[in-house]
Amino acid sequence: MAPRSRLEKTLFRLQAQHACLAWAFQAIEGRPGVVAELGLGHGRTYDHLRNLLPDREIYVFDRANDAYPDCRPPDQYLVLGDVKETVPVLYDKLGGKVVLANTDLGSFDKASNRAVAAMVSEVLPPLMAPGGIVMSDLELNLPDYERVPLPAGAPADAYCLYRKPA
Ligand SMILES: C[S@@+](CC[C@H](N)C(=O)[O-])C[C@H]1O[C@@H](n2cnc3c(N)ncnc32)[C@H](O)[C@@H]1O
Repeated sequence: MAPRSRLEKTLFRLQAQHACLAWAFQAIEGRPGVVAELGLGHGRTYDHLRNLLPDREIYVFDRANDAYPDCRPPDQYLVLGDVKETVPVLYDKLGGKVVLANTDLGSFDKASNRAVAAMVSEVLPPLMAPGGIVMSDLELNLPDYERVPLPAGAPADAYCLYRKPA
C-alpha cells in the first residue's frame, strides 16, 4: 500500500479528531470538569469545542494567538507561551480538574514530534481528572492510562485516545 501522503495525513487527522471529539463529548457527559485544548492554531478545534460544549470552561494553550478573529478564546482562557512552561503554572488552579484534553501540537517534523510527545506526556497528567479523556495527534507515553480504541469514523492510527482510571 502507498504511504499516506501529506494530504491524507492531514485529512485523516482531522477526520479522526472530529470522530474522537464526538465520542469524547458523550464519554464526559455528566462528569464535572474543564476542557484543555493544547494547540490553538487557527482556532478551528476550539470553535468546535465551544459550540458543542457551551457550558464547559475551555482553557486553550499555544505559543501565540494565530486564531481566526471569530475563533479567539476570551483572554482569561487563553494561555500563551510554550506549554512546557505554561501548563505547570496552572497546576494549582486546574490540577485534577481537566475532564477532556485535546493535544494537537504535532507537525511534519518527526524529531520535533518525538520531543513534543515526551514533553506533553510529562506536563499533562497532573491536570487530568479521574476518568478524564486525553485525545492526541501524537502517541503519548501514559502508562497508567487505558488506551481507548478509536471510534467508528476515525481512520486507523490517525489519532490517539486515552482514559485516566477513575
Ligand atoms: C496543528 S496546529 C493546531 C491546530 C488547531 N487544532 C486548529 O484547530 O487550528 C499546532 C499548534 O500547536 C502550537 N504548538 C506546537 N508546539 C507548542 C508548544 N510547545 N507550546 C505551545 N504551542 C505549541 C503551534 O504554535 C500551532 O499553533
